[in-house]
Amino acid sequence: MLKKTDLWSEEDKRQAHLDSRIEQTQSAFFGFEKVAADEKVYKVRRHFDRVARRYDLMNTLLSFGIHYQWKRLSIRILNLKPGDHVLDVCGGTGDLSMMAGRYVQKTGLVVDYDINREMMLVGKDKINGTAFRDFIRFVQGDAEKVSFPDNSFDAALVGFGIRNVTRIEQGFEEMRRVLKPGGQLMCLEFSKPANRLFRRLYDIYSFYFMPLLGRLVVGTGQPYACLTETIRMFPLPEELAAILKRIGFTNVTYRSLTNGIAVIHHGTKA
Ligand SMILES: C[S@@+](CC[C@H](N)C(=O)[O-])C[C@H]1O[C@@H](n2cnc3c(N)ncnc32)[C@H](O)[C@@H]1O
Repeated sequence: MLKKTDLWSEEDKRQAHLDSRIEQTQSAFFGFEKVAADEKVYKVRRHFDRVARRYDLMNTLLSFGIHYQWKRLSIRILNLKPGDHVLDVCGGTGDLSMMAGRYVQKTGLVVDYDINREMMLVGKDKINGTAFRDFIRFVQGDAEKVSFPDNSFDAALVGFGIRNVTRIEQGFEEMRRVLKPGGQLMCLEFSKPANRLFRRLYDIYSFYFMPLLGRLVVGTGQPYACLTETIRMFPLPEELAAILKRIGFTNVTYRSLTNGIAVIHHGTKA
């Protein structure tokens, strides 16, 4: 099993996630499983169908609640103002949408854009009976083909979602397309802990404890084994920054959180 922990250093595995490689091989990775490129999106949808109702609870248990701090910080970095229009790609159960909503207020708009209806239904339940109902909208769609016109949003963000998108560069290109010039991109994603010992403990926690907790709370450990795997396949912070620059974002910076377990990337559409 510990061989799996070496995967952090396998650049080739991470490259397999890039659009050009997916086009060449017509295959993608769902965790460590190689699947037909066009099949991945269905697998991801089924995956989130299974976890949707317990998604928020599992996040809180698995991260000891820290995910809320990461999310709050990632929204604060955007300096949103009342009236701003925000696209929350892979918005799921809507945590980031609601946090963005506190800044843009009712003169603004937040769109939670997600491929999975079950996840968004949980989010809808959360905002029912709150002021967010008036200006947070849920739109079902694929991050690779965002169903909004060019130059529509002041900010586009994605939290713990881009890993699941088959063609991640296409996803970021779409976010860039729908941003207004000067609009901001934010990506919050899991990454590789910096400290070796901490990483070792994190690996053991991820490969053993997370699937176990999944079995106890959701009735299956598979989605959490898969989560652990996808994190290790995702570009490292420097690699992701290079991808964002290549796509055309400027002022690209990133900030590591909790020894690098999560990273916030930020960029601007020129
Ligand atoms: C791990 S959840 C993150 C949800 C939320 N952003 C958060 O931080 O709690 C990932 C979300 O990405 C969505 N997703 C996966 N692939 C997608 C795609 N191609 N297009 C849009 N949403 C997608 C899933 O349905 C799921 O809701």
